[in-house]
Amino acid sequence: MCGIVAYIGKNTAYPIVVNGLKRLEYRGYDSAGIVLNSGSSFTLSKTKGKVSDLEEKAENVDKVSTIAMGHTRWATHGVPSDTNSHPHLSNDESIAIVHNGIIENYEPIKKMLTSKGFQFHSETDTEVLVNLIQYFRDTEKISLTEAVRYALNEAIGAYAIAVMEAENSNKIIVGRLSSPLAIGIGKDEFYVASDASPFVEFTKEALYLEDGEMATLELGKAIDIRKIVDNTKVIPAIQELQLTLEQIEKGGYDHFMLKEIYEQPKSIMDTMRGRILVNEGIIQMAGIWDNLEKFTNASRIIIVSCGTSWHAGLIGEYLIEDLARIPVEVEYASEFRYRNPIITDKDVVIAISQSGETADTLAALKMAKEKGAFIYGICNVVDSSIARLTDAGSYTHAGPEIGVASTKAFTAQVSILSMIALKLAKHTGKISNQQFHLLASELELIPEKVEKTLKLDEQIKEISKKFVNATNFLYLGRGYNFPVALEGALKLKEISYIHAEGYPAAEMKHGPIALIDENMPVVIIATKKGHYEKVVSNIQEIKSRKGIVIAVVTEGDEQVKGMADYLIEVPETSECFTPLVTSIPLQLLSYHIAVMRGANVDQPRNLAKSVTVE
Ligand code: AGP
Ligand code: GLU
Repeated sequence: MCGIVAYIGKNTAYPIVVNGLKRLEYRGYDSAGIVLNSGSSFTLSKTKGKVSDLEEKAENVDKVSTIAMGHTRWATHGVPSDTNSHPHLSNDESIAIVHNGIIENYEPIKKMLTSKGFQFHSETDTEVLVNLIQYFRDTEKISLTEAVRYALNEAIGAYAIAVMEAENSNKIIVGRLSSPLAIGIGKDEFYVASDASPFVEFTKEALYLEDGEMATLELGKAIDIRKIVDNTKVIPAIQELQLTLEQIEKGGYDHFMLKEIYEQPKSIMDTMRGRILVNEGIIQMAGIWDNLEKFTNASRIIIVSCGTSWHAGLIGEYLIEDLARIPVEVEYASEFRYRNPIITDKDVVIAISQSGETADTLAALKMAKEKGAFIYGICNVVDSSIARLTDAGSYTHAGPEIGVASTKAFTAQVSILSMIALKLAKHTGKISNQQFHLLASELELIPEKVEKTLKLDEQIKEISKKFVNATNFLYLGRGYNFPVALEGALKLKEISYIHAEGYPAAEMKHGPIALIDENMPVVIIATKKGHYEKVVSNIQEIKSRKGIVIAVVTEGDEQVKGMADYLIEVPETSECFTPLVTSIPLQLLSYHIAVMRGANVDQPRNLAKSVTVE
């Protein structure tokens, strides 16, 4: 899940690579490193910690070189340490590599290389790969490019790599399988990165390497792309980047997470823009239009995803079954891919993924495709691996999400699922024109209601102060708001490190109620339309056991007001769209608690934004 950056051209490479690494830190921040090439030798600087630690360490390093590669790591093989940090050098120090992914068969390769006299200094799988490249180059007497190709043909697993040779400051070689790799093409210069953000201000011309491809980037020559398996030439598919610098900067907010929470009125609006035609009675989504029969004739829809995207999937299940009456199952991609599920060509499999790169989701989708299912993607990152693999799809237009904790991508996913449900319901006649009109109009009002909900920020900040030292939290919700409870608990866990669990409110009495005492904060979603009376009874049960109730209710609520310790009033909307509103205060609550605890909310410990390993 690491981030890799490389540059070759006419400018000083150091600042380009280091600034690029900062933009990719969301992908991992266990360690950082850079290697500069002088044309005859490497200057290597690497350290456990963040890119800012690397900058300190590299303070006195000669930085004039115009070719360099950098890495920010999320450790898979070997603890975060200076030694395990990338870049790694081959034994003779003539080849350097940065790698994102896992070489699954590193052990037998390491054994083979050890028997040939190679020595290993780190515990990483990556160091094995760079030595395998040296081995092939030296024993087969082939060029570095060919040696990289030979080595990649031996490697099983996932990789995006960049490789360079000390003697050759003209060339960088890159390759990919399952981990993303973008190449920026400037005038007499090339940029390489795990996504396009490190070079967005330098060039708009980019291409994304496909699985099983490698490329040689040589100054003075056009990019040369080859299939790793047989060296056949591939025509480069260069495209214009849509990303802007402004989109990936904090814009005055303390954290990306807060900026992204506040962007939601716009990101939801952008996701819905041009897609809801209330008066015409149409939801305009080309991916669904073109494949309408596939959806309406599907024996079932299976949603596969992970983490927050899985929570969005659960809301999708409620929406599609409730409105369109098509059976839906929601699966953790990691379980689905390994449990030999029954999939037929009558199934539609929807993958939901912000990054579009999540390894488990990608693999689950590949399996579903092999078994003949129609595969559909809901991704935020344009041209990501999942977006390219699927038969069709709908992008969420949330814009780049940098904070590791997903917020605006989640509400954008739920917006897409709401539109899909509405469209399928309308087309199959499961809702009347009048109901469609009502719901579609309501959906259009959501950005406004989210805007209003954000005004509760100060109040939520005050509430947060009371829970800075909490050690546990329960989140409860029913129906559409059960997945919101799960998502609220996940948000709190991942950024504040407070243990939190989400439950269907009615399940509380089957176990979790034993946890409730005067120290247990319980966040409960009790909006007017979602089984309100039942949830009110659940609140009574909590209060009878002296639990602390933080209730998210509909504006003007009187009944819960008398019972809850803290009341958060959100605007009313149709029951099926309440998650779009109720999730906002829960995001803010976890954000403020985490900030007050001094946690790094944008880069929480042990996590990475884009989980491109199993
Ligand atoms: C969200 O806050 C998490 N960091 C994580 O659960 C995330 O949603 C999950 O890894 C899935 O990512 P994706 O949407 O990019 O596939
Ligand atoms: N497997 C490599 C390591 O642990 C790269 C990790 C990654 O891409 O997440 O250093």
